[in-house]
Order: sequence, then structure tokens, then C-alpha cells
Amino acid sequence: MPNQNPKRSKVPFNGGSLVAIAIALAAAACSQAKSENAATVSSASTLPCDIGDVLQRNCQSCHSATPKFGAPMPLVTYANTQAVAKSDPSKKVVELMAGRIHDAVHPMPPVDALSAADTATLDAWFKAGATEGAATASCDASLDAGTTTPSVGPSSLPCPASEQTVFRAHGDAVDAPFHVEENAGNLYQCFSWKAPWTNTVQATSFAPVIDDARVVHHWILYETATPQPEGVGRACQMPADATFLQGWAPGGQNNVFPSDIGLRLPTSEKWLILQVHYWNVARLTDANDRSGVAMCTTPPNALRPKTAVVSTLGSLNIALPARSTNVDVVGKCTPEIAEPMHVLSAGPHMHTLGQKIKTEVLRGGQASTTETLVDVPRWDFNAQASHAVDMVINPGDVLKTTCTYSNGTDKAVYFGEKTENEMCFDFVTVWPAPGLTTTGGRKTGRCIDP
Ligand code: HEC
Repeated sequence: MPNQNPKRSKVPFNGGSLVAIAIALAAAACSQAKSENAATVSSASTLPCDIGDVLQRNCQSCHSATPKFGAPMPLVTYANTQAVAKSDPSKKVVELMAGRIHDAVHPMPPVDALSAADTATLDAWFKAGATEGAATASCDASLDAGTTTPSVGPSSLPCPASEQTVFRAHGDAVDAPFHVEENAGNLYQCFSWKAPWTNTVQATSFAPVIDDARVVHHWILYETATPQPEGVGRACQMPADATFLQGWAPGGQNNVFPSDIGLRLPTSEKWLILQVHYWNVARLTDANDRSGVAMCTTPPNALRPKTAVVSTLGSLNIALPARSTNVDVVGKCTPEIAEPMHVLSAGPHMHTLGQKIKTEVLRGGQASTTETLVDVPRWDFNAQASHAVDMVINPGDVLKTTCTYSNGTDKAVYFGEKTENEMCFDFVTVWPAPGLTTTGGRKTGRCIDP
């Protein structure tokens, strides 16, 4: 599934940027002369066309004229790049840009890495002093910011609004918006519902409903067999059996399944949890949100021939010593399958101590013939994405998920539901049902070898 869903927790918006600042300092040396002129940048100054183009394609989905999804400033005009940085008033935005596009820990953009060509274009510009474009230049691409891909959202779903099933964040009353407090900072808020389907149905497509884009950072829809309070929003405490159903992060598109595949939805003995990450960087006082998810489903008697399910890979066997670095946790899955399984996407999940995570397929169980299913070399709790995969798992194959952590705290950290505990899961969407499971894991959709 092409959807992407990120997340971020307790890190303030300028958190973890020490590396970035160090790199930016180096860059600052070259542009100091300009820095002193910052105030003189006129609004008529334009970005060079190639720079405007790179920013439009890679940055402006968040850094739009009115910034979205927690981004602290716009990156639309030349003046925007020369403005004083929000997180460090001694720097210009452009100086932080130079650092953040190379930042190993908190890269920009946070989800899809910049291409080598775009990185080179920006680096060349920084190096040459980040000067403005020729006044006469007229760029091909319109540099109007904030345009999102028109095919995102419920109105682009293949079923009409009257047939969509929608779950949205809400206030005390389910039809009132959720108020994001001015000082909420990074907030994970969870909303739950009993699954409304009495018979088995499939989801055929999903769309994000994005309401107050200024404060929504991402959301994830989970299903769980653990009873949840209904009709209230609350701080998230994710039950250990929760599995990922769908997610969205800035830049994420609608997810429309191929016409013969539907994703099995939980029936009414289960619950749905919508976890929304809010990020009120601008300390807005009027942020009221009803974001969430809309989906099209099959009628119960017209299921699609191929049922996709979400299978959970990884490990619950996590024990990270205090002050430890680069500790690997390895979980294997030897699926008990009689036919090939088709993987459509992977949604890796760890908490804040995660450094990297990957799932490999050992063909025929042999470590000598290993293929990568998904590889996240720089894990960012606040930028969790669902990765599109096109891979077939055959009987005899073994899946190996490796989670790498660094525990800088003074306490050992174990598997658990709270953000300060850790997890090592990879939620893979796969068809046909029952997906990748072992006999012991059939009920929970887990494929985790003992
Ligand atoms: C998916 C949304 C998104 C995209 C795309 C994105 N950013 Fe950001 N950006 C953010 C958020 C959220 C923050 C604040 C949190 C942080 O600093 O990590 C941020 C912060 C920054 C900062 C730090 C500002 C400060 O005052 O500390 C810089 C610099 C930056 N972005 C540059 C870029 C550049 C350059 C691009 C494109 C190459 C880009 N960003 C693309 C969301 C995004």
C-alpha cells in the first residue's frame, strides 16, 4: 500500500538537532556576510528555479505558505529561506536546511529521503551562498505552495460518501472536534470504537480525512481484541495485541487495493483504535480537529476473492540493558503455509529507542539466499511509514526481523505497551488469508517463532 504514516513523540520540534546544528554551523561560515543582510531581503526576491522546484516537490507538502503537520515555517519564497530560524534565532532558516537534509537522526524530509540529484542541487546552492534567483527568471513549474495531490481524501475514494465508513477524532461529544491545547506540544491521542461490522467485510480502499492540517502529524488505525473504552478520546495506551490496519502521514495517498483484493476488517467482537499524533508547534489556541480515516468496504455477501490480512512479525523478547548501544533483537517467523503469500506492504514499528529495523526473507530457510523485504536504516518514532512491498513468500521461506536499539537511559527497558517500553514489530499486509501465521499465532495473526 502506498500509504505512509509517520509519528513523533516527546521530541520537541527542534529536538535532536545537535548534529544538524553542528553541520549548519560549518555551513554558516560561508554565508555569514549574507546573514547580516537578512533584514534586507525584499519580498520581490525569488528563489532560483531549480531550488524552488526541489522545495516544491520535497518540502512544501509540510512547509507550505501556512505550514502544515507540525512544520515550524514555510519554505515557499526566497525570503522564507532567509528568515530567522524558529528553533535558533542566531541562524537563518537556510543554514538549518543545509544541516537537516544531511541529518542522520532527524533528516528532512522526514519520510521520503531526498534523491541524490535533489540533494546535489540544494548543496550546490548552499555552497554558492544561497543567493536569490535572477529577477527576470520565470520558472516553468508554478511555485505556488501548499498544493496537495488532488487524488487524496474521501472525495477521491471509489465509493460515494454515503457508502463510506468513517472514524474521526472527536471531543467529549462524538460529533464535536477535539481541541488541541495551545501547550499540547507532541500529543498522542487515541479514539476507539467497537468494530461496527457483524459479518466479515473487507476494506477495498482507505483515504485520510485531514481536518486541521496545522496540527495533525500522522495517524494509525489499529485493531485489537482487548476491550477499549468507547466514545472517549484519551492518552494512548496501546494494548500489546493491537495490530496495524492502516496509517497516514504527510505525503501519504489514498490506498486503493487491486480490484480482486480486500483487506479483512475486524468483526464486532473487536475494537478499532485511531491513534492521532498532534503536534502543535505553533502553539495555536484555535486548533480543533476531526481528522481520521474514511474507507470503502465490500457488502458482506460480496467479498473479493483474495482476502488480505495484516500479519505481525517481530519479537516480544526485548531486554535492553541500561546505557547500551546497538543492541539487536531478532525475531523469526517460520510460517506454516501451504501456498505462496503475496506481501503488499510493511509497517515496521518500534518506540523511541529504536535505531533501525529490517525484515529479510531467508529463501528456503537459508541465510545464504537472503532478500530484503523492508529496511529502515534510520528509524524515527515520529516518522513511521508504511512501505509498499511486492514480494512473494513461498512455503519453506523464513522471515527474519531485526530491530536495533540504543538505550541511553539508566534503566533496562523491556517489551511493553507504553511509549517508554519498547516494541519490535513489522505489520505486513499479505494475501491470501490467513496470511503469515504459525499454529500458535493464528488467532492473533502473529508469526513469531518461540
Ligand atoms: C512531512 C512533512 C515535512 C516535509 C516534507 C519536510 N519537513 Fe522540514 N520539518 C517538518 C517538521 C514537522 C519540522 C519540525 C520538527 C523537526 O524539526 O524535526 C520540520 C523542521 C524543519 C527544519 C528545522 C527548522 C527549525 O527552526 O529548527 C528545517 C530546516 C526543515 N524542516 C527543512 C526542510 C526541508 C529543506 C525540506 C525538504 C527538503 C523539508 N523540511 C521537508 C516537516 C516536514
